[in-house]
Amino acid sequence: MSIINNKNSLEKSILYVILIARKIKGGNMGIEINSRLSSNIKNMKRSVIRELLKLTSKPEIISFAGGLPAPDTFPIDEIADIAKEVVLNHGKTALQYGSTEGFIPLKEELIKFLKTDGISVSEKQIIITSASQQGLDIVGKIFIDPGDTVIVESPTYVGAISAFNSYKAKMVGIEMDDDGMRMDLLEEKLKELDKKGTHPKFIYVIPDFQNPGGVTLSLERRNKLLSIASEFDLIIIEDSPYRAIRYRGETIPSLQSMDNEGRVVSLYTFSKILFPGMRLGWAAGPEEIIDKFVVAKQAMDLCTPPFNQAIVTEYLKRDKLQSNIESTIEEYRQKNQLMLEKLDEYMPDGKGLKWTKPDGGLFLWLTCPDYVNTEEMFYDAIKENVAYVVGSAFYGENPKYNSLRLNFSYPTLEEIDEGVKRLAKVISSKLK
Ligand SMILES: Cc1ncc(COP(=O)(O)O)c(C=O)c1O
Repeated sequence: MSIINNKNSLEKSILYVILIARKIKGGNMGIEINSRLSSNIKNMKRSVIRELLKLTSKPEIISFAGGLPAPDTFPIDEIADIAKEVVLNHGKTALQYGSTEGFIPLKEELIKFLKTDGISVSEKQIIITSASQQGLDIVGKIFIDPGDTVIVESPTYVGAISAFNSYKAKMVGIEMDDDGMRMDLLEEKLKELDKKGTHPKFIYVIPDFQNPGGVTLSLERRNKLLSIASEFDLIIIEDSPYRAIRYRGETIPSLQSMDNEGRVVSLYTFSKILFPGMRLGWAAGPEEIIDKFVVAKQAMDLCTPPFNQAIVTEYLKRDKLQSNIESTIEEYRQKNQLMLEKLDEYMPDGKGLKWTKPDGGLFLWLTCPDYVNTEEMFYDAIKENVAYVVGSAFYGENPKYNSLRLNFSYPTLEEIDEGVKRLAKVISSKLK
């Protein structure tokens, strides 16, 4: 650990976080537990983002690091009113255990919600989950045996990496461009794997406003993805937390709505369209797969909290969701626009910097020239009181070190202006 000893205390903390994320062991305390731990937990890492967030919670730091929704989009008064009503009028069921599959009235509302997006599913094709992170864990639990190959975007969502890692998947990353995952590279990789006798368990994609990339899979590529999945007989996991948060441009049909072969499982969540605190989401897909979700979930938590499901059901019945989504879009559109304007204004020209221009979602991805290491640059950013997430956290394999993710939903407009100015100063100091 000599590299740690040579650093000052802030640098030490940051380095420590990065080392934990890379599974480098620290000192032992108390009894020796390592020999007793399962190989599964040994394979799991702390979330680098959650650890970094602890370091960036000082009030003077402007953080573009988290992935939090803006709290002023939460309909607090309405939920307070509904919560009271649910306890008083439906307390005997809402405070009781519920079924693993989920609260039927909520499923009925969700079937209507999906219909507005061109998706037609029956009640048996939906399961309510403790938000989409649980959906990802269940995907790992039901599909992955140790050493199984799964295909992911490169970069991809760090929580999916954690979930798939915990089941010891071998992740194969496929590069993206502004139109999402590159289908030529996917096809090439699948042929290569096929020659070696490897059949991936699934392809995991975030087609709309990808986290962390901010890019959207084009319609042409969605068609191609479905035809490749058909050719190689693969399941597609479509993770869709940001789909409804579109600021501009035409909505592109979801993979779920385009699937004629029953090979797409989609994960949805209320976290970004309502609020994340109730941990509510759902998965939709072929009945036989959803049935396996039920079996896996039974062992995890028996059921998603019925109280939360009852509150959200009532909220949907009052027909409030759409207007909440619209006002959220309005707020995030302004923030997204401002961040893009300020990047144009403050970042140096002609030095090889580029960033994505998302049409929705919460994030954009900034790439520096190859010689810039954004993990090392993180120390300087914190000294300038601005934070981001290091790009290397988002790779299922072969991490790259010259990118970073910026969130624009949580900071205020003033913070976006000042934070981008500080970040530009830090980045400029690294450019040749
Ligand atoms: C792509 C993606 N999937 C899943 C999640 C998990 O969200 P939740 O568990 O709150 O639904 C997130 C959260 O940021 C995400 O970005």
